[in-house]
Amino acid sequence: MSGYEEWILACEERDGIRFSWNVLPTSRVEATKMVVPVGALFTPLKERTDLPPIMYEPVQCTGCQAILNPLCPVDFQTKTPYWVCAICTHRNAFPRQYQGISPQNLPAELVPQFSTIEYTLQRQATVPPVFLYVVDLCLDEQDLAALKDSLVMSLSLLPQNALVGLITFGNHVQLHELTTDGCSKSYVFRGTKEVKTKQLKEQLGLTLGGGAAHPQQQQQQQQQQQGGAPANSASRFLQPVSECDMTLTDLLEELQVDPWIVAEGKRPLRSTGTALSVAVSLMEATYPNTAGRVMLFLGGQATQGPGQITTDEFKDTIRTHHDIEKDNASAKFVKKATKYYEGLARRTAKNGHIVDVYACAFDQTGLMELKYFAQYTGGNVVMGDSFDTSLFRQTFQRVFGKDARGDFNMDFNATLEVKTPPQIKVCGLIGPCISAEKKSGRVSDQEVGVGNTTAWKIPGLTNTTTLGAYFEVATPHGQSIPQGQRANIQFITQYQHPNGQMRMRVTTVARNWADAAINLPSIAAGFDQEASAVLMARIAAFKAEQEDPADVLRWVDRMLIRLCQKFGDYRKDDPSSFRLQQNFTLYPQFMFHLRRSQFLQVVNSSPDETSYFRNMLIREDCLNSLTMIQPTLTAYAFGMEPQPVLLDSSSIQPDRILLLDSFFHIVIFHGETIAAWRNAKYQDMEEHENFRQLLQAPREDAQEILASRFPLPRYVDCDQGSSQARFLLSKVNPSQTHNTFNTGQDGGGVPVITDDVSLQVFMEHLKKLAVSSSS
Ligand SMILES: *[C@@H]1O[C@H](CO)[C@@H](O)[C@H](O)[C@H]1NC(C)=O
Ligand SMILES: *[C@@H]1O[C@H](CO)[C@@H](O)[C@H](O)[C@H]1NC(C)=O
Ligand SMILES: *[C@@H]1O[C@H](CO)[C@@H](O)[C@H](O)[C@H]1NC(C)=O
Ligand SMILES: *[C@@H]1O[C@H](CO)[C@@H](O)[C@H](O)[C@H]1NC(C)=O
Ligand SMILES: *[C@@H]1O[C@H](CO)[C@@H](O)[C@H](O)[C@H]1NC(C)=O
Ligand SMILES: [Zn+2]
Repeated sequence: MSGYEEWILACEERDGIRFSWNVLPTSRVEATKMVVPVGALFTPLKERTDLPPIMYEPVQCTGCQAILNPLCPVDFQTKTPYWVCAICTHRNAFPRQYQGISPQNLPAELVPQFSTIEYTLQRQATVPPVFLYVVDLCLDEQDLAALKDSLVMSLSLLPQNALVGLITFGNHVQLHELTTDGCSKSYVFRGTKEVKTKQLKEQLGLTLGGGAAHPQQQQQQQQQQQGGAPANSASRFLQPVSECDMTLTDLLEELQVDPWIVAEGKRPLRSTGTALSVAVSLMEATYPNTAGRVMLFLGGQATQGPGQITTDEFKDTIRTHHDIEKDNASAKFVKKATKYYEGLARRTAKNGHIVDVYACAFDQTGLMELKYFAQYTGGNVVMGDSFDTSLFRQTFQRVFGKDARGDFNMDFNATLEVKTPPQIKVCGLIGPCISAEKKSGRVSDQEVGVGNTTAWKIPGLTNTTTLGAYFEVATPHGQSIPQGQRANIQFITQYQHPNGQMRMRVTTVARNWADAAINLPSIAAGFDQEASAVLMARIAAFKAEQEDPADVLRWVDRMLIRLCQKFGDYRKDDPSSFRLQQNFTLYPQFMFHLRRSQFLQVVNSSPDETSYFRNMLIREDCLNSLTMIQPTLTAYAFGMEPQPVLLDSSSIQPDRILLLDSFFHIVIFHGETIAAWRNAKYQDMEEHENFRQLLQAPREDAQEILASRFPLPRYVDCDQGSSQARFLLSKVNPSQTHNTFNTGQDGGGVPVITDDVSLQVFMEHLKKLAVSSSS
């Protein structure tokens, strides 16, 4: 590994950040010629076990409100030391308690190793996190039983001080009271109409934060269909889990499949949209701007009311990509439903709340229309076939997993702010967030992702949530950057820890400038092709949500060709002379796999799957995202250690086992000979102990991957020639297709049936286009 690569990984480890370019071009014009934008993958809450607890308030620059950090020059010579802001060069006095500082006696935030530091602020949350369960009752008995088990189990995993609540839905929506002993009460809402916050407040006499309602309000209240008790406050619906877990356990255990009769040839009437409106409005009315998590458990499509995605007639099929493209009848609810959920998701995120969607059904459930809950609030999306699967059970348990310190891996109500020097402007963020609408002179006109701001709200964050941040070099051509100055960027993340503490994580990083006109090699040497591929993939996925996929593919191609023209060595019009500089050699291959991936090719996916895949791509870290773009393939055979092999059809051999990790799928693929031996049960014979071990090795490695991934990937165990083998075949480079395959001559590999071009053909085309004097 080269020094640069090691340095990049060390930065990622320490600061949770990877830049596309580690040396920045000094002018706007040069920066655009680099093709790949200056950007960074940033994991705000990257797990760090070695951060010292800082129990005092951060010191702010009076010029730009950046936080004091190790990059700030300090003058100890003067009678009263002062510091210079590393972002805006403003000169600041230290607060009084810093009087004794000296180069030998530095506060932690000035120690170079603490480029990332975390403050525990004095302000504490006054309200514990709220967890609101929203449960679909249109399930079959077995599914509901399994879901009930998981829900009851989860009560013991919640933070002990958490507030909990329960909404169930089918044809109607029920909001359950938790204060009652014995006889359960609930408020029932018609499933066909959105419930707004104002209406809910009036109907139920809800007040902020669980305090008692005003007596006059109580009198005005209308008692609802089933409700009887005098209404007073939120505490009827949201109770500390420590106090209501018996009541809630009973309630959950007694849940029945929605009693509404479903006629032959019909789908159940399912009011997902109304149920979510009750949930979002309840949270908005009672605990706005505090830690809150709505967990939706969904077993099918919304068939009525706002947000319906199809009808209750089975003959009305659920929209496919084709239907949406053709504006076909089954796609007629798409626009309206998406708009409805988008509005709800925006309100949720503005309130700092999260909505998770746990969707388990064989058919589509409407994840596409519901996608904004994940995109704006950072909520989890889990997609399974049934609640009665280990995929759902284990994934759901992992939501409440704890890190090495015993802390929950869920942080709430975060805001991320980026501080840049005058030479750098902020184009936007791609990741699970909404704009916090903070305008400043550092906002770029060139919007990428969520732009027009330098701060964002991220209601739900985990230790792996990763944002793509995009920047613009703003210095006009010809205006030089003062000697010795570096590009300093600061990320400030404020959030609520599940234990109620308010924390502020501050990461301040610096990269060098170089004048591309005279020092292009040093810029090229700082190119991080992995981070760049992921940052470009995020833009492509973001574009694909709004534009024609064919246009996005053309954009990917165009950018690749331009990058090759800029950083390749070649003679004009001579493709055979083309060489890429060392740091760029893997990049075209990443783009090749991106083009073929489920992110840009939708024919083999449902709309739900496509939005699920894209949603994961824009929130995972660099390594996981790369795995999604270009899966890893490992080979196991006699007489060799397991080893990574090319993601290529030539890697498929009869006497090998392959392990494919595409993030979403883990595939174990047995070559023909291996499968035959296994079918003959060689592994059970004492003299073939090593065969037993060979079979076992990839399973153990697969288990290791399964143990830590969220959501749990699908696990496929298959043999060469079986139909399940398609999970592997669709990913490998078709280097041997039926057209090019030469039977028996090259000693192995199988032809892949595909219309795609192979990587080799792709590279030939690329070289031709890159060297062409007309392009
Ligand atoms: C780019 O290539 C140069 C020359 O081989 C190498 O020294 C450097 O470490 C590479 N940079 C990265 C970011 O991998
Ligand atoms: C939640 O975040 C908002 C800013 O987006 C902030 O104003 C509010 O105080 C935060 N809530 C708590 C409880 O800290
Ligand atoms: C809708 O699309 C399907 C293919 O998915 C097609 O068979 C059908 O004819 C289309 N219907 C209409 C009304 O366009
Ligand atoms: C993140 O938190 C989970 C607990 O959910 C923990 O298992 C894991 O080690 C933490 N760190 C990383 C880098 O995933
Ligand atoms: C961002 O600002 C630009 C110019 O001020 C405007 O044209 C654009 O619509 C804005 N975008 C959003 C998403 O608000
Ligand atoms: Zn400043």
